[in-house]
Amino acid sequence: RILTQDELKKIAAYKAVEFVESGMVLGLGTGSTAKHAIDRIGELLHQGKLTNIIGVPTSTKTHEQALSLGIPLSDLETHPVLDLAIDGADEVDPDMNLVKGRGGSLLREKMIEACCKQFVVIVDESKLVEYVGGSGLALPVEIVPFCWRFTAKKLEAMFENAGCVAKLRVLENGEAYVTDNRNYIIDLYFKKDIGDLRAAGDAMVRLAGVVEHGMFIDMATTLIVAGELGVTVRNK
Ligand code: A5P
Repeated sequence: RILTQDELKKIAAYKAVEFVESGMVLGLGTGSTAKHAIDRIGELLHQGKLTNIIGVPTSTKTHEQALSLGIPLSDLETHPVLDLAIDGADEVDPDMNLVKGRGGSLLREKMIEACCKQFVVIVDESKLVEYVGGSGLALPVEIVPFCWRFTAKKLEAMFENAGCVAKLRVLENGEAYVTDNRNYIIDLYFKKDIGDLRAAGDAMVRLAGVVEHGMFIDMATTLIVAGELGVTVRNK
């Protein structure tokens, strides 16, 4: 039987939880893959197989899920250094650079995952790409709502050579999607690759109005990929 994408996500997530040890402070990711990992951590806590875990959630959604599972929670102010984070990604390139944020939580994810000694990324094999941002799918950028059209135009102009189109993320009812930080998300679509990723990211955050972009460059330390042929673990 061919496994569903959700079953593959679960396999990757459960593998990542094998890295969790009692007493750890954990960054808890957001999205359908990370959700499986958090469920599993909750299960092991209840079985007494893990003890003294503290979670730092990367979104209000994950906060609610972890609370409902009885996982003790904290934040970066109380725990500025975390042992390990587990999170999904939208794209992963061969150097383990990521695109994140299609679920809208890129800012808190980046703040928390930047503070983790180990950052384990969990994906099914459909997330593997040759070039980050080159898949024709969105590169999310969190911006302040103030004059968002102006910021969107500036971003388009910044990547004119890559054929960039900037779109405000909207809900089904047509209203702007609002992040946990009360910001908007602009999804950037490129016709060509954007060249040096770090330079592109730095240019975006230098633009007033931009809060953070969804490229996670050189942050992942471990990549777990679940595919039809099994699960692989790669360390950087
Ligand atoms: C949330 O904002 C994202 O960064 C997610 O981590 C990413 O979208 C992966 O989500 P899935 O695990 O649902 O594919």
